[in-house]
Amino acid sequence: MNILITGGAGYIGSHAVKQLHALGHAVVVLDNLVRGHRAAVPTEIPFYELDLAETDRIVELLLRHEVEVVMHFAALTYVGESVQKPLWYYRNNTAGAMSLFEAMERAGVKRCVFSSTAATYGEPDEIPIRETNRQAPINPYGRSKWFVEAILRDIVAADPAFGFVALRYFNVAGAAADGTIGEDHEPETHLVPNVLYAAMGKRENITVFGTDYATPDGTCVRDYVHVDDLVEAHILAMNTLRDGDARFYNLGIGRGYSVKEILDAAKRATGRDIPTKFGARRPGDPARLYACSDAAQRELAWKPRHTSVDEIIDSAWRWHTAHPDGYDASG
Ligand code: UFG
Repeated sequence: MNILITGGAGYIGSHAVKQLHALGHAVVVLDNLVRGHRAAVPTEIPFYELDLAETDRIVELLLRHEVEVVMHFAALTYVGESVQKPLWYYRNNTAGAMSLFEAMERAGVKRCVFSSTAATYGEPDEIPIRETNRQAPINPYGRSKWFVEAILRDIVAADPAFGFVALRYFNVAGAAADGTIGEDHEPETHLVPNVLYAAMGKRENITVFGTDYATPDGTCVRDYVHVDDLVEAHILAMNTLRDGDARFYNLGIGRGYSVKEILDAAKRATGRDIPTKFGARRPGDPARLYACSDAAQRELAWKPRHTSVDEIIDSAWRWHTAHPDGYDASG
């Protein structure tokens, strides 16, 4: 299949490029390199340093490569930053997606797999979270993605030959098994890489945000899914796309781990002590978030392979120890 991967130089997008390329698909990457890394994409893969706003150039690219399906990863993804810079988030994530969909319409591309997020649910009414749970995002990041889900629904309503699957990610972590690509964000806010940076001495310590939550050990509980399992769900979704599809799936393992459990797993994986501080709650963090991903398992035949958090952290540790400066050292 001829596939455009937007955000293909980013953390999750680059893992999608790797898997799809290995399966023999013709992959093309678009990335504006604001957060992505050119070195995360193999040189043999056609690469376009383009912004989603450049509609005309995206039309040309889609036509030139006879693209059949778009996997749309390109986005800004920090909740806190989105609160500080809402317009930047809406421009990149919402207006950017609209520009991409307009380009797809003009080029006649009618298949899309869209990266959505658990942040579209906001504070969940029930745990585990099901796709039918009320969506009420509580920050601009979540809203910027929720709007895109609504736009996609409207596109299908207007054109029954269009079809999309939106995948709502929980906490994505880990790295490719061969250690060649992994997570390298600047700034980095996520728990798993920051815990490992503390183990490596790249940062002085890790602060646990809040110890007084109504959870078994008082720290927040999240659902950690391995990036390669997550990407596999995208491929299964792509393979099942049909005219008129407007489908939504949660992607999580369906088991929650507390921040303290992640610290313990990181100690096991690294064999090192992790200098830890206990601090105040981070505003906007719900106590517990984990998915019911039965729908993806049933309808996409998705079977996450890395179901223990130890495996996820082991793979991240391999990447970070092999690339202590991330992609910087490799360009
Ligand atoms: N945490 C710490 N210390 C840190 C970093 C994080 O204690 O230095 C805690 C957080 O409070 C949270 C957990 O670790 O309880 C996980 O935090 P992350 O920042 O790694 O991830 P989030 O759960 O905040 O965010 C993830 C995705 C977002 C998505 C959100 C949906 O990264 O893109 O889930 O709720 F929006």
